[in-house]
Amino acid sequence: SLCLVGSLYYFIPLSALDRSIPVRALTGKMTFQWGVAGAAYQIEGAHDADGKARSIWDDFCKVPGAISDGTSAEVACDFYHRYEEDIELARAAGFKHFRMSISWPRVIRDDGQPNEAGIAYYSKVLDALEKAGMEPCVTLYHWDLPSSLQTAEMPGWMSPQIIDKFMAYATLCFERFAGRVPMWITFNEPAVFVFGGYQGGWNAPGVRQSVAEALVAVRHVLLAHAKVVALYRSRFQNGDKTKKIGITLNTRHYKAVDASDTAAKGAQHMLEDRIACWSDPVVFGDFPESFKATHGGSTALGLSKLEQEALRGSIDFLGINYYTTSGIQEDSPAGAGSAWKVVELGEASGASWLHSYPQGLIELLRWLSGRYPGLDVVITENGFCTPGDDPKAVEDDVRVRYYQDHTNIVKQAIDEGLPLRGYFAWTLLDNFEWAGGYEERFGMVHVDFNDKMLPRTVKSSYRWWQQFLEKS
Ligand code: NOJ
Repeated sequence: SLCLVGSLYYFIPLSALDRSIPVRALTGKMTFQWGVAGAAYQIEGAHDADGKARSIWDDFCKVPGAISDGTSAEVACDFYHRYEEDIELARAAGFKHFRMSISWPRVIRDDGQPNEAGIAYYSKVLDALEKAGMEPCVTLYHWDLPSSLQTAEMPGWMSPQIIDKFMAYATLCFERFAGRVPMWITFNEPAVFVFGGYQGGWNAPGVRQSVAEALVAVRHVLLAHAKVVALYRSRFQNGDKTKKIGITLNTRHYKAVDASDTAAKGAQHMLEDRIACWSDPVVFGDFPESFKATHGGSTALGLSKLEQEALRGSIDFLGINYYTTSGIQEDSPAGAGSAWKVVELGEASGASWLHSYPQGLIELLRWLSGRYPGLDVVITENGFCTPGDDPKAVEDDVRVRYYQDHTNIVKQAIDEGLPLRGYFAWTLLDNFEWAGGYEERFGMVHVDFNDKMLPRTVKSSYRWWQQFLEKS
């Protein structure tokens, strides 16, 4: 059969799952982008300003024990009122690209009507970026779902109705901002908000249920992604290759750390289970066979031909948030094994899940380019965590080292010819690290949350970036 994806980009025979790569070739059209990344909920504060509706994170912060230090993001860095000074900090560091997200409940009221005051705020932020000579990269969904869409009748991403709600929200964002935004990301780290929010319960909305149940949300996220990309391509992108849309995945790398077959298979299994379960659908149009086998019989993973066609080739680039690598080791006496275990590699940070392992980044990029030859990749986040009570908070030599090591790998990847098109550092400001509260700091600028004025102080890592970008 012949099918048409999005607009008139390609005809693809879909009789069997076609493993050729239907990506639009952007290669060579993009100069390498150095940027800094952030997200609305983590920095904006102003939780009820100018008609903003509540989000599931506003609610989740009220649940006792949900946030490790008992805080919330009602004020956070107050970026909402201080965006000019913070954008100036990003500009003065030398960044030319600025990744941000739009807060859905800020721009759409609970009755479904646009909130013009919230829209005006993002318009001013985009103006400030333009004035500062920075290109925006905008994430539509960085986890702050309107609370009105997470109810008993309408259980958020578990509900099929969410797809049309997300379409309406995306349509508004594109209509108001697409002319000024050359780079869009539909979803940030779907695995984290789906499994953290609808299975483990450590993220909003804090629902605990089985993996099998949460797979329904996986399906809805993917279908919503495909629909929004088709909309963007037909009405807003119009074949303009300087305009891009993609998705961002959390991509911890998994690496075999012994020579056994068991470890090699275990690492491959984890990469497919955690990464390819999202990237295969948006590149090839279907889940990896191993993922379907693991969740054998789940109807949520059965995609119709039309759904496959809509998903296939639905990214212009793959965004990866790379922070760390896990080792996979045979877990039994030498030679005997079929089981494997996960071991930590590299230098520990202020967050238990993050160890610095720069080499893993290039290994992951090679794995991606082997699976998806020619697919453009953008590192949409990379950064290091230090604890909130760190006495050397501002002289953050460990973060300098992390950035040094990872940007070296980026250069090596480019030299090797891997299709890596950009890198965004996470993040400008110390901010609200979700369930980690303000105890886990990722900023290159220190924010004193104990002082009502929220003073900003640049760290050594900020100065390092300034020097690095001057030379790049
Ligand atoms: C992933 C998320 O996208 C971001 O919101 C978070 O703060 C960083 N990584 C650090 O954990």
